[in-house]
Amino acid sequence: MKFRLKIWRQAGPEAQGHFEYHEVDGISPDQSFLEMLDQLNEKLVKDGKEEIAFESDCREGICGMCGLTINGQPHGPRLKTTTCELRMRHFQDGSTITVEPFRADAFPIIKDLVVDRSAFDRIMAAGGYISVNTGSAPDANTIPVPKPVAEEAMDAAACIGCGACVAACPNASAALFVGAKISHLSLLPQGHPERERRVLRMVEAMDINGFGACSNHGECQAACPKDISIVNIARMRAEYRKASVWA
Ligand code: FES
Repeated sequence: MKFRLKIWRQAGPEAQGHFEYHEVDGISPDQSFLEMLDQLNEKLVKDGKEEIAFESDCREGICGMCGLTINGQPHGPRLKTTTCELRMRHFQDGSTITVEPFRADAFPIIKDLVVDRSAFDRIMAAGGYISVNTGSAPDANTIPVPKPVAEEAMDAAACIGCGACVAACPNASAALFVGAKISHLSLLPQGHPERERRVLRMVEAMDINGFGACSNHGECQAACPKDISIVNIARMRAEYRKASVWA
């Protein structure tokens, strides 16, 4: 397969960005999108040119590092698929593919396709944890958790913090990310002691870090590679209302 790539290049956070065109040939349909970019970078290095900066780590849909906007869609055209899991057979042979970084004010571009997503870390540091007394592991049955509650919590915990929800949202809201983190911690008994403080602090951190408000557009859920439901946003709002009353 061969493709024409229209790729965003930007030398640094303050530099003016622009699109650059490249051709790639001899691409296997089974090759991943990132392997295709690796192949392009090898060619650029061989030609004495600067390679394209992009992020990845696990390359198996777990770490959330690999977010790219492909043909206008965060993580590309496949539902419930991260950029690293995307295969080239999902694109038409000979087509032009536009590759951009995730775009949001809260995610400033560091270089080319790499953005700074540390705003998510600051939200987590504001309250996205539970405090436990260390010691020997308690008996597994000491704290009974009903199965439906455990499943809801685990579904929310599937969020990998990639930022696709923010990039897809017209308001660049982080409500799905924060809703998922609040849900997975607050649904389980271990997260109850800090429940009110957690939601107040995380929502405040979301606002301080420049994310927009949620207007129930729903694009976040559609773009999420882990199928996180917007029910988590509703739960975050309910938690916030309750916590505001008790604060
Ligand atoms: S590189 Fe880890 S999720 Fe894609």
